[in-house]
Amino acid sequence: MSRDSIGFTFLVSAALCVGCSILVSGAAVGLRDRQDLNKENERKKNILSVAGLIQPGEGAQNVMQIYEDRVKGIIVDLNTGKVVTDDQELFPNPAEYDQKAAIDNPKMSMEIKPIDDLAGIKRRENYSWVYLINDENGKLTQYVLPIRGKGLWSTMWGFIALETNLNTVAGLTFYEQGETPGLGGEVDNPKWKAQWKGKEVYNKEFEPEIEVIKGSVNPESANAIHEVDGLSGATITSRGVTHLLDFWLGNLGFRPYLEQVREQGEK
Ligand SMILES: Cc1cc2nc3c(=O)[nH]c(=O)nc-3n(C[C@H](O)[C@H](O)[C@H](O)COP(=O)(O)O)c2cc1C
Repeated sequence: MSRDSIGFTFLVSAALCVGCSILVSGAAVGLRDRQDLNKENERKKNILSVAGLIQPGEGAQNVMQIYEDRVKGIIVDLNTGKVVTDDQELFPNPAEYDQKAAIDNPKMSMEIKPIDDLAGIKRRENYSWVYLINDENGKLTQYVLPIRGKGLWSTMWGFIALETNLNTVAGLTFYEQGETPGLGGEVDNPKWKAQWKGKEVYNKEFEPEIEVIKGSVNPESANAIHEVDGLSGATITSRGVTHLLDFWLGNLGFRPYLEQVREQGEK
């Protein structure tokens, strides 16, 4: 076949396509384990960072060790508030519970009625991880709860860390979101996130009271302890944060669990 013929051109293109697709799919399959490990590392990093146990840029090996020493994951039934990590029937291998996958599994999640769906998530998994943070002496210091909800453009995925009074915020972070950089994307700004520390999420009746307000918090205001500055030019994202916290701290979120912890004392 002549090198200048149409047939040869097609042959070369076809060979190139097949060669490249084998290379790309081979790389994707071959690197899957490493990708999974990276994802797992990232999850651990986010949990440690919301609990204030690591600073940005901390080495991977350190992260693993600190996580091992200071964090204990438990699985909570969000409907009953019970801890079910040791329920062999439900979780023969608890470490493998994939909470994100459960959201789309009809047997492991439920539909949220629009009227109750403050976070705009449509479905909620029946079981959630809760991360218990201990100090160097093994004393419980914080509860880290996974949270998520709609902003303007995206679902924002994050964690809130509560102190053992189950009311004072120790930290808040959004590790995955698609809001506009510089506007709603400021939910990930360390300066904005720093404001959350010390705020109280519940009122005296143990109802969610925390609010991202429009504008700046007036420290003299009676409600200042429950208020955080709004993101300027991003009222919809700001409201999204308030609403998703109302949801996850409420009856369809972690409130049944937190209520039980309150009654039983620290666990
Ligand atoms: C290109 C573009 C991107 C925007 N991104 C966001 C966003 O990420 N979050 C948000 O709440 N509002 C965003 N807005 C603004 C909203 O449309 C809306 O005007 C705003 O939330 C109102 O907030 P304000 O009352 O603080 O101005 C964006 C607007 C434009 C034009």
